[in-house]
Amino acid sequence: MRKFLQRAISMISKLDEESIKALILDLATENELLEKVLYSLTDGVVVLNREHEIIFLNKAAERMIPFSEDELLEQHLWDVTRDIELNTFFYKSLNDADIVKDKEFYIEAGGGVRTLSFTFMPLVKSGAIEGNILHVDDITEKKSKEARLRRAENLASLTTLTAGVAHEIKNPLGSIGIHIQLIQKALKNRQNPDIDNVEKFLEVVNEEVERLNGIIVDFLFAVRPMDLDPALTDLNRIVNELVEFTMYEAKDAGVDIKEEFAEDLPWISMDEKYFKQAMLNIIKNAIAAMPDGGTLCIQTRRRGDCIELTVSDTGIGIPEENLTKIFEPYFTTKEFGSGLGLTLVYKIIKEHRWDIQLKSREGEGTSFIICMPIPQKDKKLIEWGENEI
Ligand SMILES: Nc1ncnc2c1ncn2[C@@H]1O[C@H](COP(=O)(O)OP(=O)(O)O)[C@@H](O)[C@H]1O
Ligand SMILES: [Mg+2]
Repeated sequence: MRKFLQRAISMISKLDEESIKALILDLATENELLEKVLYSLTDGVVVLNREHEIIFLNKAAERMIPFSEDELLEQHLWDVTRDIELNTFFYKSLNDADIVKDKEFYIEAGGGVRTLSFTFMPLVKSGAIEGNILHVDDITEKKSKEARLRRAENLASLTTLTAGVAHEIKNPLGSIGIHIQLIQKALKNRQNPDIDNVEKFLEVVNEEVERLNGIIVDFLFAVRPMDLDPALTDLNRIVNELVEFTMYEAKDAGVDIKEEFAEDLPWISMDEKYFKQAMLNIIKNAIAAMPDGGTLCIQTRRRGDCIELTVSDTGIGIPEENLTKIFEPYFTTKEFGSGLGLTLVYKIIKEHRWDIQLKSREGEGTSFIICMPIPQKDKKLIEWGENEI
């Protein structure tokens, strides 16, 4: 409660009628303003008391939730909607005091189906739960936009991938063609087939077929959907295991590995196997980028709602014109590179719904920064009472 109100109540017997009237008017005006704000929000808000009865709801909530009754106040939330699944969800979440954040439902409304997202937040007064606030968001447009974007992204990456494969396949196919012609020529002259040469040609054909096979195996590996099996994991522990695993290879290459780990990081949901694979690809590239040795620094830190994992090297760096290409399939500057290492890294990061950024300067070094959002498992508590409002 506001301080001035507390003071006014404590001396109410001493206030004259005019002052009391002014006070009530002030309060009513303020109340009206708050109500107007809540009513005009585009997000739905429903406030429930401790018995889970509706004590307030705004216009957006009335519009979005398919209510079956006209009179909603003082009714149980699970008694008043037309959707059985929704009623069951309300009943269960409220009575079991479940943590509910962004739970999505498809709701039939006005001939169409909309996607609504529901979040329950407990209403806390002086440390005790006094009720709940239900927040409703209509995410139909957001969802379809996301799906459209994902489809476009998939299509784009499929196009680059296919172009890459086509390009890779052209050379061995050309070579096979030429050698088959040579074999035909040698065999035409039946009296004196150049057996030695035929054997040599067949060997080349065989090698090229193997190469084609390798391209297809890598291709399938890059496009195959990943079956992630995520679990909450201590990032520092995993990164430390990776460092120990690559230490000898790094030492051989004259590379020092430096660890800078933030303490008390929250655990992150990840598929350990895939994450390790992605990190190994990044670390191997970093070591390869320091042919005369250098320092590889691996850092973990918290930044806002994310954990940031940075892998930096003091290597040759990446020329600016290649910065946008290095994640593309088959892009490599190495004589025997596959060009698929970072494609896989990118895929693993995206499958986890993380983000990866790149900073590089030629001659100075390169940093890969992975941003992993921290799971929001705790319900936010909304305090009201004493000095609030
Ligand atoms: N840490 C790094 N420093 C400099 N260049 C890098 C680094 N990591 C990747 N690259 C560049 O990106 C290219 C693609 O990497 P990648 O997809 O792993 O394929 P590959 O290692 O087979 O070449 C590399 O050939 C290299 O040019
Ligand atoms: Mg590589």
